Amino acid sequence: MVAVRTALIDQLVTAAIARDRIDTVVNLACGFDTRPFRLELPAHLRWFDIDGPPIIARKCEVLGRAAPRCRWHPLVADLAAGKARREALRTAMDGAQRALVLTEGLLPYLHADQVSALATDLAFNPACTVWITDLLSADSQPRVAQIYRKPFAASGIRSASVQRTARLFSPRSGSQKSRRRSIGGTARRTSPTSCTMTR
Ligand SMILES: C[S@@+](CC[C@H](N)C(=O)[O-])C[C@H]1O[C@@H](n2cnc3c(N)ncnc32)[C@H](O)[C@@H]1O
Repeated sequence: MVAVRTALIDQLVTAAIARDRIDTVVNLACGFDTRPFRLELPAHLRWFDIDGPPIIARKCEVLGRAAPRCRWHPLVADLAAGKARREALRTAMDGAQRALVLTEGLLPYLHADQVSALATDLAFNPACTVWITDLLSADSQPRVAQIYRKPFAASGIRSASVQRTARLFSPRSGSQKSRRRSIGGTARRTSPTSCTMTR
């Protein structure tokens, strides 16, 4: 499922960069995602990879001599802490006209109020044009909790429904242009050989 999620989000990111004329990507909780090194990206695109100190340190160590396909900036921040998250967003969005924010795999680590605060931060940032995230459906939560060996009862995923999160993200326009793609549905339609796993 993680490989399918990666492949699906690869497509969503590259399509959004072209369609929405994105100049900055802000990847919150990037982990060891290597998209700036392996996707076909415009050379002028700025890409911020943000995570905790050990992840960013290890990532820089491993990728230190690799050539990114765009302007890559690793950044450390505690994304659960409002002040630190807003500071990181300010740094990454400085000079951005049209930014794409990615939170793949982050929301289960946050409590519901932190998810709401993040959605509000993004909504009121004028440069934030697109937000791509994964959300767990209610019926997939027990299975995922089992895989991660972690109870998700206290985390943001329970109350951060698609509709509620989308509403928080687009209060200005009143209209929500949220598009949903099912990871499970994509997995069923995708033959294993059509998935490239180069992370
Ligand atoms: C499931 S991984 C997802 C990594 C990557 N986005 C991906 O999909 O492969 C979750 C990531 O969230 C990061 N993370 C969790 N809580 C965080 C926090 N409070 N501040 C910064 N990063 C955090 C972890 O360090 C980890 O890299």
